[in-house]
Amino acid sequence: MIKREIHERIGKLKNLINRHRYLYHVLDRQEISDSALDSLKKELFDLEEKNPEFVTSDSPTQRVGGKPLKEFKKIKHPDKMLSLNDAFSEQDMQDWQERISKLLSKKEREGLDFYCELKLDGLAVELIYKNGFLETGATRGDGIIGEDVTQNLKTIEAIPLKLEVPSSKFQVPSKLVVRGEVFLDKKEFEEINKVQQKQGLPLYANPRNIAAGSIRQLDPKITASRHLDSNAYDLLTNFGQITHEEKHKILKALGFKINKNNKYCKNFKEVFEFHKFWQNNREKLPCEIDGIVVVVNNNNIFEKLGVVGKTPRGAIAFKFPLRQATTQIEDIVVQIGRTGAITPVAHLKPINISGTTITRATLHNEDEIKRLGVKIGDTIIVGRAGDVIPDIIKALPELRTGKEKEFKMPKNCPSCGFELSRSRSDRGSATPISSRVLDRVGTKSGKKSETEALLRCPNPKCFARQKKSFCHFVSRVAFDMRGLGPKIIDRLLDEGLIQDPADLFNLKEGDVSQLERFAEKSAENLISAIQNKKEISLSKFIYALGIRNVGEETAKDLADKFGSIKKLGKASFDELQRINDVGPIVAKSIADWFSEAKNKKLLAKFEKVGTKIHHQFKKLKNQKLIGKTFVLTGILQTLARETAKEKIRELGGEISESVSKNTNFVVAGLEPGSKLQKAKRLNVKIIDEHELLAMLK
Ligand code: IVH
Repeated sequence: MIKREIHERIGKLKNLINRHRYLYHVLDRQEISDSALDSLKKELFDLEEKNPEFVTSDSPTQRVGGKPLKEFKKIKHPDKMLSLNDAFSEQDMQDWQERISKLLSKKEREGLDFYCELKLDGLAVELIYKNGFLETGATRGDGIIGEDVTQNLKTIEAIPLKLEVPSSKFQVPSKLVVRGEVFLDKKEFEEINKVQQKQGLPLYANPRNIAAGSIRQLDPKITASRHLDSNAYDLLTNFGQITHEEKHKILKALGFKINKNNKYCKNFKEVFEFHKFWQNNREKLPCEIDGIVVVVNNNNIFEKLGVVGKTPRGAIAFKFPLRQATTQIEDIVVQIGRTGAITPVAHLKPINISGTTITRATLHNEDEIKRLGVKIGDTIIVGRAGDVIPDIIKALPELRTGKEKEFKMPKNCPSCGFELSRSRSDRGSATPISSRVLDRVGTKSGKKSETEALLRCPNPKCFARQKKSFCHFVSRVAFDMRGLGPKIIDRLLDEGLIQDPADLFNLKEGDVSQLERFAEKSAENLISAIQNKKEISLSKFIYALGIRNVGEETAKDLADKFGSIKKLGKASFDELQRINDVGPIVAKSIADWFSEAKNKKLLAKFEKVGTKIHHQFKKLKNQKLIGKTFVLTGILQTLARETAKEKIRELGGEISESVSKNTNFVVAGLEPGSKLQKAKRLNVKIIDEHELLAMLK
């Protein structure tokens, strides 16, 4: 090829490669395979290497980055790069609307509409194009001056090096200013962390950290290896656009990748729907988002609203509820469970996480307190692990004042004074959830300590233990005796009116009304509430007995397998172990419980007071979910969790509490927890609530 031909070929290759970049990143279309595209790039690379005079700044080969820099140059933004105010609730949003409405005319107020964007969790950049070519790219910096990261940004395929020309009449502006977000998708994030782990290097906490770290690399080759992505979200150059939505259309036509999920919303109702939808479906996105950005759609109104401090009045970040927050430990109090287990619980300064106020978080055991290194008075990071359970993730000793107090586990039961005994935890129930959650971000090993032991009060007559077993017995998922709360149980126990749960059925109105401040009417109501619950299903009865390690699901399986309490009491160790989720530890707990004389007496007493235990074996009709195991995670929107479980069981499906390779479906609701991550790791099919509803039809 002569020089002219080479020049032409290079030009064509560049155009073709750029064309496919545009199709892939901007229009979501892939017309040639990755390998075919790689091979075109290779040809271009070889030609340019031999003919360096033909290398231009917009060539796709320039994306791999040039020489490492010594330091970043500073760049002054043509216009201040602002940040956004946050809203965390619909009320915050209404307040925002009220604030801005005051500054608008009646007509403007009434016609107010919005453009909603996904708020990508990455870092903001500004791109400046001169005569159609990317000239500089900068970080936000302090909003006025940023760092020149052009070489690094050039490695991102989603950023055009040369503007597209949307039509022949289009005049490329001499200067174009665009802003957007650079981010890393979740898959890339996991890949990078896998490599870090293999090399024994610390793991990154989230994709944003990698994106930010990669953009501020002095060696663009490192940036290039990170496969960053980018979305444009603001156009500062005037093309006569009237709305923010139009800006996005223009950006797309110029070759920028914009987020296809962004949406015009004509009023707040639509804005709230958009927010709710993405709050529920963010897990399905390839990248992390932490909320939505709501922008006043009319650009004139947006301008008129102006800027307050460092934020424009005309846009707001409507964040999703926080998954983690910081608060203080006001006290650490030990709790005595019905099996005697002693658990330290942190009493927290109230804090709202994922939309719920949290005041208590378990510290699990002594080892966990040591591992976290928490003291009373400490500021801590708290999250909601798994599904909804408050979980202390980390203490912030940097914020100590010196007034914090060390917590020591008691040697004696705070309720009955018995010396506490130490036993190994048997089912892993004491594994701190935070170990598992943080396992994902790598700041902890997630391994259970070998010495982890539970402190127990060995006194079966311990008042606190008794009270807990009564509470368990009357709870909604057991005998469901509404109106019989912990305070009344306290008083009944105090007066010696009840010693075991069967005694409840012997209570008479007079017993209760003699209690101080107990009105006759409420005594009558309480007694009838108790008497109405004499009939109970076998599974609930088994669960109510409070056998160690027998939860609701195991109780259901036991009921289905044995059909009566007598048969269950006679079951052999082997028979028990043949049941779903029942291993030697659970089987031993069951066998031990039935062999104890006091429990035999209790069962006889239940019979005597007239408790009627019934069981219906699963109907064999319409068992379309037979053999399928489901795990539910997160908050379901239309079905109560119990109802969902019930319906799955009715159709023959099984419910399990933890994800394993034997799980068939993980149903992910709102704010799904670590179970979802595990499902992904194990390649278990994940379905949402709608898909579940369809299955249950
Ligand atoms: S701003 C006129 N849109 O959030 C307002 N910011 O701004 C134009 N961010 O650090 C829209 N995604 O980097 C806007 N779709 C989005 C965004 C977004 C993420 C970031 C931005 C900045 C912070 C506040």
